[in-house]
Amino acid sequence: MVKIRSHILQNQTHTIKKEKILTGDRATGQLHLGHFVGSLQQRVALQYKYEQTILVADLQGLTDNGHNPHKVSSNILNVVADYLAVGIDPRETTICLQSAIPALSELTMYYSNLVSVSRLQRNPTVKNEIAGKSFGDSIPTGFLMYPISQAADITAFKATLIPVGDDQLPMIEQTNEIVRKLNHVAQDNILVECRPLLSKVPRLPSSDGKHKMSKSMGNCILLNASEKDISKAVKSMYTDPNHLAVEDPGQIVGNIVFTYLDAFHPDIAFVDELKVRYQKGGLGDGTTKKILEECLQEILKPIRKRREMFISDKAQLIEILRTGSRKSQEESNQVLNNVKQAFGFNLF
Ligand code: TRP
Repeated sequence: MVKIRSHILQNQTHTIKKEKILTGDRATGQLHLGHFVGSLQQRVALQYKYEQTILVADLQGLTDNGHNPHKVSSNILNVVADYLAVGIDPRETTICLQSAIPALSELTMYYSNLVSVSRLQRNPTVKNEIAGKSFGDSIPTGFLMYPISQAADITAFKATLIPVGDDQLPMIEQTNEIVRKLNHVAQDNILVECRPLLSKVPRLPSSDGKHKMSKSMGNCILLNASEKDISKAVKSMYTDPNHLAVEDPGQIVGNIVFTYLDAFHPDIAFVDELKVRYQKGGLGDGTTKKILEECLQEILKPIRKRREMFISDKAQLIEILRTGSRKSQEESNQVLNNVKQAFGFNLF
């Protein structure tokens, strides 16, 4: 009886798991708590409901690291180990490597003829990123083009749902423009449009509350941070600079310790109580930091342990990537062939 029921349930999950999701990360560094709240936790949940592919975007990582490819290549397995450590399961999620899937680069070449340089320069995300980097007059072509390559990623997998933060919305919009143009040229609905699955979680600020999270700035907590690293990061977190004595009333807004408590502490009522006490005066930063540290230590301990286990078996990580990439090659080759055929580029 129980067996039959579980069999039915299994079948149900298989029939429900239909829509295709694609997400990805540039492989330019280890993943941190910002990724954890912003996307990783969501992916773990989504993998049981959707057919999910996660792309380790090494080629996209190269678009602003052309002279430092090692920064990207040395982080590929780190990112895979991070995925597995948080509970992304390669039996539920296809994990693949962008550079191992040639159809993605080929599709990028076809699509690039349908997108003008000025359209790329108008992409708000690209525009912001260019303003924030020191390219000067030497913007790498690959960088300017990366929205096209991302459109290739999305369409090659026939992904219809793309989990994103709001900075990635322009990529979705540009992808759909390419889809419509290509389908128009091909006179056939070869590519499918996608829609965003917007993350409701607000972006996690860095521990200094000022800059973007980055390992080199030392203002983020990596998923494999040691107990000591976590303790140090929490102790140096930005709070309310005017909250000097314990008795002083303190500010919650912009106080990174409270932002992190909101994001990570499981007991919302308790955190609300702390906020009231802090605002009234009588609650010191030492205490709030201690509570946050305990909470982060508890969350990260099992992740760190699992990550250690996975990173110590590189052969297994490579095998997971190879298997996922093979499956992805097949899927993306089909889309590439459809495009080539529609364009008449299929003599042999
Ligand atoms: N642009 C994404 C990032 O910066 C990475 C990425 C590459 C991606 N290809 C993708 C995300 C396709 C979603 C779908 O993290």
